[in-house]
Amino acid sequence: MPTDLALTTDTSLDHALQVAIACYRARNPGSAEMLERARQVLPGGNTRSSLWANPFPLCIASGQGCHIRDVDGNDYVDMLGEFTAGIFGHSSPVLAEAIATAHARGINLSSHTPYEVELAERLCARFPSLERLRFANSGTEANLMALMAARLVTKRDRIVVFRGGYHGGVLTFGDGVSPVDVPFDYACLPYNDIAAAEAEFAQSGARIAAVLVEPMQGAGGCVPGDPAFLAALRRLSEAHGAILIFDEVQTARMSVGGAQARLGIIPDMTTLGKIFGGGLAFGAFGGRAEIMDRFDPARADALPHAGTFNNNSLTMAAGVAAIDHYLGAEALEALFQRGEDLQRRLTAVFAETGLPFAVTGMGAIMNLHARSGEGAATDRKLLSLLHFRMQERGYYFAARGLIALSLPVGENEIRGFLTAIEQGLQA
Ligand SMILES: Cc1ncc(COP(=O)(O)O)c(C=O)c1O
Repeated sequence: MPTDLALTTDTSLDHALQVAIACYRARNPGSAEMLERARQVLPGGNTRSSLWANPFPLCIASGQGCHIRDVDGNDYVDMLGEFTAGIFGHSSPVLAEAIATAHARGINLSSHTPYEVELAERLCARFPSLERLRFANSGTEANLMALMAARLVTKRDRIVVFRGGYHGGVLTFGDGVSPVDVPFDYACLPYNDIAAAEAEFAQSGARIAAVLVEPMQGAGGCVPGDPAFLAALRRLSEAHGAILIFDEVQTARMSVGGAQARLGIIPDMTTLGKIFGGGLAFGAFGGRAEIMDRFDPARADALPHAGTFNNNSLTMAAGVAAIDHYLGAEALEALFQRGEDLQRRLTAVFAETGLPFAVTGMGAIMNLHARSGEGAATDRKLLSLLHFRMQERGYYFAARGLIALSLPVGENEIRGFLTAIEQGLQA
């Protein structure tokens, strides 16, 4: 493209973005004010970096079903569903009742409760790889514990992870190993690259404790794992005595047994989070009995694993209610198919407009991308413009393009979203 044309295009995009930002500021004075107040006590007004968005993020006041309202009274269809954790929609009466009942029976009971057994039984019954599990308070913690278990059981140090992978704030590999990552001996390999994994195992197989992988990279832009790649990781781990860990914190919703059941690939360990806390803070790690039984406290060689709130009865009760009322096989399959359908329809809309947008994902978790060709870098300005245009039209998703459908999002909302996308692209 001639430079002058590139410049013209860029200038008009810059201008459109400036206008969109000015409109956003005018529409959201309350959110701006709240951020200023937050800045006094939270660095940058933020306590969760992924929520940051230029010029300031929305401050959401309330939600009902798949609808949310910000502090300025603007209404949105929530197409983000708390970055996949909010699969139930907002203010579910079923979950509210489960939490209230557990609370009324007494919380912080200083001991074992029946709730943890009920939730553990349900999870072990769902996931082919889970013979035993332990609860934690977040997906991050679950992954940390799974990695430590793998290192201690194998008596090896090296951890294979993948560029673009995200396993929590201290296990983030978007651009390789991050300065805030826990300091393990990592091999950070390209995702979906069988040859690179084979080369790493050929060179360092005897030192590899674990392979930690998402069946679909979520935060990395919803890049589905190639089944042949995931099967190769299964084969290589087994051949070299390493522990294959599937991080199913996001992908657990792909079927009643998660992505592993859909793929027919059974890892040695699985980590969970998000949806199984019924909307409350949650994490779990588990796997084959011979690995997990090292956490049996009665054993002479027991590995310790502590956590005041590991078995907190509110989360356990909400998790049980979530599974029993919302996360059955039929509901999850319908949600998966609704997401696949939305992806197909989005792809058709993008093709019609001829604009450089695409969608990737699996089922109801997907990411919009603005890029000029296969493998090209994301055009952040173009994506940002579409994001502003969609917010103006009352649709909320992550600034980075993440969409995660919750169960209450129906055909009406999807149709409205597609119309808004068409209008947003035309504008
Ligand atoms: C795949 C994956 N693993 C782990 C985590 C971390 O979970 P948490 O935020 O509960 O610590 C996330 C969070 O987004 C995730 O997407």
